[in-house]
Amino acid sequence: MAPDSSIAIDCLGYTPIPVALLSCDEVPMVDLYRREADTGRLRLYRAANVPMLPEDLERLEKSKVGWLYSPNVDQGEMQLYIRRKLDMLVRDNNISVRDRFRKLNDVVEGILSSAFEMDDTDEVMRSSAYVASMAVRLLCQDELTAGDLISLLHHDFQAVTHSLNVAYMMVRLAREMRMVADDELTSVAVAGILHDIGKLSVSERILNKSQRLQRREERVAQKHPAHGFRRLCERTDISFGQLMVVYQHHERTSGKGYPVGAVGDEIHPWARLCSVVNVFESLVSNRPYRRRYPLTEAFQIMDGPLSKGLDQEIYRCWKHLILKK
Ligand SMILES: [Fe+2]
Repeated sequence: MAPDSSIAIDCLGYTPIPVALLSCDEVPMVDLYRREADTGRLRLYRAANVPMLPEDLERLEKSKVGWLYSPNVDQGEMQLYIRRKLDMLVRDNNISVRDRFRKLNDVVEGILSSAFEMDDTDEVMRSSAYVASMAVRLLCQDELTAGDLISLLHHDFQAVTHSLNVAYMMVRLAREMRMVADDELTSVAVAGILHDIGKLSVSERILNKSQRLQRREERVAQKHPAHGFRRLCERTDISFGQLMVVYQHHERTSGKGYPVGAVGDEIHPWARLCSVVNVFESLVSNRPYRRRYPLTEAFQIMDGPLSKGLDQEIYRCWKHLILKK
């Protein structure tokens, strides 16, 4: 079940709780709210002192309710609960890696959407680190092939979905190329989740515009790597490689990228990695003005002028990884 991507719009002050993680025997004793489908408003679903029954969960699942909400005063308790349940899910060898990954992806999209919508960098950093550590545990299992990964991802036009997909792909590719030590893969995933954080400083009107951007709007949108860099550069919990992913993921080895037109090795290897999967992810995802391309068509497009400014070794490796049977 895909998460409701507009979770936080009407739900600021509430913590989203994935229904998929609830089990009736141990739901924390907090008020739980449900979002009305038509108005988007929150309505009390279950008061803290009312037990949750198995049929309640069944009913929620049947009506495709993916999320309940608890007031932020109970945030600490709920977050501990969610983390414990996610931890159990990721380690549960009775469920296939594919199914665990699918479930994890649904849940973490909601968690990250909520953090990004709050526009709170500390919260984004905390959630990204947590989500990355969970995802990497599954992404490093050979049972989950790169092809599986692509088929399990959501391909809608949501900023958080895009960032998460890019993060997952970066991890798989970095691991395949042995670009970093295994214990650095979580940092790579965090970099992927954060790569477009600068878009929080660009107006939604421009970001979501379905027609071609005017030159002036394009210049505004192209400032997002610099906005992201400024937002994060003084933090002590971000590495140089991560910061360079944020700042340089639209640079091209040919010097035709932005924000500064860096060339070749001036672009950090993690940023070159990000550029490749960033272009690929955009092609295989739906956009307001076009449907997603099938994999082979996406690579045909990338084989053309699009690949010119991409690191060729990284691009070839990604293509091989996805197309190999
Ligand atoms: Fe970007």
